[in-house]
Amino acid sequence: MRIAVVGTGHVGLISCVTFAHIGHEVVGIDANGAKIETLRAGRSPFFEPGVQELLDEGIANGRLRFTSDYSEGIPGVDAAFICVGTPPRASGEASLVAVERATREMAACVNGPIVLVEKSTVPAGTHDRVTRTVAHERPEIADQIRVASNPEFLREGRAVQDTLTPERILVGADDPSAFETLRRIYEPLTSKGIPLIETDIATAEISKHACNAFLSMKISFINAVARMCERSGADIGSVAEVMGTDSRIGSSFLGAGIGYGGFCFPKDVDAFERVAHSLSYSFPLLREIARINDEAIEAAFLKIRDALWNLDDKRVCLLGLAFKPNTDDVRFAPALALADRLLGEGATVSAFDPAAVEEARREQPRIEYADDPYAAATDAHVVVLCTEWAEFKELDLDKLKSVMRYPVFVDGRNVFDPGDMTRRGFTYLSMGRPTPGARGA
Ligand code: UDX
Repeated sequence: MRIAVVGTGHVGLISCVTFAHIGHEVVGIDANGAKIETLRAGRSPFFEPGVQELLDEGIANGRLRFTSDYSEGIPGVDAAFICVGTPPRASGEASLVAVERATREMAACVNGPIVLVEKSTVPAGTHDRVTRTVAHERPEIADQIRVASNPEFLREGRAVQDTLTPERILVGADDPSAFETLRRIYEPLTSKGIPLIETDIATAEISKHACNAFLSMKISFINAVARMCERSGADIGSVAEVMGTDSRIGSSFLGAGIGYGGFCFPKDVDAFERVAHSLSYSFPLLREIARINDEAIEAAFLKIRDALWNLDDKRVCLLGLAFKPNTDDVRFAPALALADRLLGEGATVSAFDPAAVEEARREQPRIEYADDPYAAATDAHVVVLCTEWAEFKELDLDKLKSVMRYPVFVDGRNVFDPGDMTRRGFTYLSMGRPTPGARGA
């Protein structure tokens, strides 16, 4: 099949390289000329395991090309996937400016039957807007343009794997030919047994928001229970284990810590609440999910302040800045929110991250960035683990302790064993777990 992918960000570029990998002819379109030049030179603009290899493969076998010119990319394709950003507005609502712009640009260049596929996470009802825009722009050819929804469920850090071996593929459409086109596109995956769920378009749009909001809810739920554990002496790790063994609940996304971040959960929870509002339905649970997520950062902040007494003249070392391991993405990263809070209270903040230092530096230049964890921890009054990178689990903890000014360790992801950390001489504080002999420095 011939496919255009509009937008070459995390979702778009992964779609480009994976569609090419499964045998399609793909053109990636992006208005950002500099990005297109980088991609044409064969370089991925961001770090994501497997992307560079598939980019090399697609360019080498000629199935993958890039352009910033819609008139070069759109004519003749069977489907065009809309993968542009839908960033949050101040109200929490998703901004659909880029979706509208992409729709107009695509419509202007269509010269035959095509399916325009929403892959970006968009509010329910967006397909109506896309359809109406197309009809307005190209009335003479509107009957050849179909609209469908095909939300992605990929996780950063595992995006290629999630796209090539997803638990399910979701396709929303209201026309048999649109379903047929998408079935053919995904045939290389469905032939291996991956289920394809077909729904109407509004159902697909709502499903995507509902999945992200539900997963966020699991995290906020366990974090709220963690606050109760801290007040009662219970252990959140064991509570999560007990809950997780009930197959109706499931064990995933019950990891207590400093909360969720990234460019999906925070904005999608807010946007879904706005969708509910626009449908005249009040859904305050969604606001509560976001509030508890903010509270998780505040809980870590209070532990740090409580351990150090005053934060002025204190040095706080953050280990991990990315919103989760295996990515350099710091958008809505809890570590940066915590850094803002600490800097605001007069602390000096140093940090190390295996991949995200450059990204973080752009967001928060006031942090003192180091090249390794021990340099970051030197003279620190407290080390705070913010992202559970595998390499932090291998830290030489005795060396870490020896370079610190006070041996206070706040484990924002509950990676280490409280007993072991205490035996090593740390004042060890984690999230929702009892702390043997906990005392401030
Ligand atoms: C998420 C969804 O998982 C994916 O299906 C969707 O398409 C996009 O949004 P992503 O943002 O890449 O993917 O990250 P994910 O792995 O889901 O983690 C999100 C955040 O939740 C991270 O900050 C992570 O640290 C946090 N998290 C996750 C927890 O705090 N506890 C958990 O138990 C799990």
